[in-house]
Amino acid sequence: MTARTKLIELLKSEAAQESVLIKGWIRTQRESKDFSFIELNDGSCLANIQIIVDNDVDDYQEIVKLTTGAAISVTGELVESLGKGQKWEVRARAIGVLGVAPDDFPLQKKRHTDEYLRTIAHLRPRSNKYSAIFRMRSKLSFAVHQFFKERNFQWIHTPIITGSDCEGAGEMFSVTTMDLNNIPKKNGAVDYEQDFFGKEASLTVSGQLSVETFCLSLGDVYTFGPTFRSENSNTSRHMSEFWMIEPEMAFADIHDDMKLGQEFVQYLVKYTMEECTEDLELFAKFVDKNLMSTLENIVNNDFIRLSYTDAVDLLLKSNQKFEFPVKWGSDLQSEHERFLTEKHFKQPVIVYDYPKDIKAFYMRINDDEKTVAAMDILVPAIGEIIGGSQREERYDVLRQRITGMGFDEADYWWYLDTRKYGTVPHAGFGLGFERLLMLVSGISNIRDVIPFPRTPKHLEF
Ligand code: 4AD
Ligand code: MG
Repeated sequence: MTARTKLIELLKSEAAQESVLIKGWIRTQRESKDFSFIELNDGSCLANIQIIVDNDVDDYQEIVKLTTGAAISVTGELVESLGKGQKWEVRARAIGVLGVAPDDFPLQKKRHTDEYLRTIAHLRPRSNKYSAIFRMRSKLSFAVHQFFKERNFQWIHTPIITGSDCEGAGEMFSVTTMDLNNIPKKNGAVDYEQDFFGKEASLTVSGQLSVETFCLSLGDVYTFGPTFRSENSNTSRHMSEFWMIEPEMAFADIHDDMKLGQEFVQYLVKYTMEECTEDLELFAKFVDKNLMSTLENIVNNDFIRLSYTDAVDLLLKSNQKFEFPVKWGSDLQSEHERFLTEKHFKQPVIVYDYPKDIKAFYMRINDDEKTVAAMDILVPAIGEIIGGSQREERYDVLRQRITGMGFDEADYWWYLDTRKYGTVPHAGFGLGFERLLMLVSGISNIRDVIPFPRTPKHLEF
């Protein structure tokens, strides 16, 4: 019996083969006089293979009735194709029907809108564009690990259920087993002691605090996992569930952090250009005509580095009309970030040393006592792709920041301990994996680079 070959392997054949077995889904079928052509795809690569079915193949009359979406198995001969644009085709000896697809198959050959395809997220990976982005997503996940492995970072699995709010923004989803119709109360407040963990629990917004403790034991580390935020922002760049990569470097400062961030983004872009060529071509052709020049620009140039104060000056002097006013002390809005990356510098920009009042408690206070050693990496079309900082490693300063922001010191006792016992300068960042996928594909809506998007009021599939 012949073993099944994946399309991606079959298409790389060096020579014709007498017997091959391939299984997949019919993209199209076209009947001719004495035979039928089937375009078959199994999801392993973008290209289809053409199957020629002669009319003397068993059950020919049934086979020609099969339509787009049906699953079949094909045994036959791999022969050189006379047609244009393909090296190989299969002359079928036998076709087995694995699963028919009736006429109401929602992915007909015509071009569908992304909005429509989102309503059939369970079937959209059968289309060219979506199979391409999800193959790229898979490959780039491996590339993330490869990047850190080459630099001797250890991979730490940080928890998804947590008792602390890393960003302090209160955008946490609660995790509870309490009966919501009959919540136990004590002195008028929810009695979390009776809940599953005996205290308030949430889905994590970031693995950073956990990974920091490992950084101060194992040195350079990273975590890569899903994170959850209940911020009610319905933009094309935010989701309630997204994947984040968070490296943390020991004995490192903000400059090391910016360097690693730039190298990481460049590595992943270069990897896409070298290892995802077929899928990338589709995006460059049909999604974003400037994609290749954007990617080349990222790989070939150092990112611009600019302090927050200088960025604000530059924006104020730009004579641009912004919807949100630019003011030292306010966070940069997406329109400001886009002006810097798309209009002014026309390349990625690292903004550092932000005002302390608009950033998280764990960022290291600079000597001016007004700013923190934070850095955001901004890229054209997307804005912030990386957010990071040098961490406050001084016990007393960190403790004051925690209490000063109104947090309960007791909730962070273990985090504070790492500063009490052998503290060292360290720094890290978080890269939003979906935003990176938007960057390398030119896809403009974040919902289209994750298999099953979760956003406010959307939890289908
Ligand atoms: O800037 P953020 O909030 O930083 C942190 O969470 C830090 N704890 C990271 C660290 O220093 N270890 O988020 C980091 C990145 C952002 O730059 C963005 O790319 C992405 O995560 N991100 C989101 N992506 C999709 N949907 C959302 N709602 C996102 N929020 C942040
Ligand atoms: Mg941020």
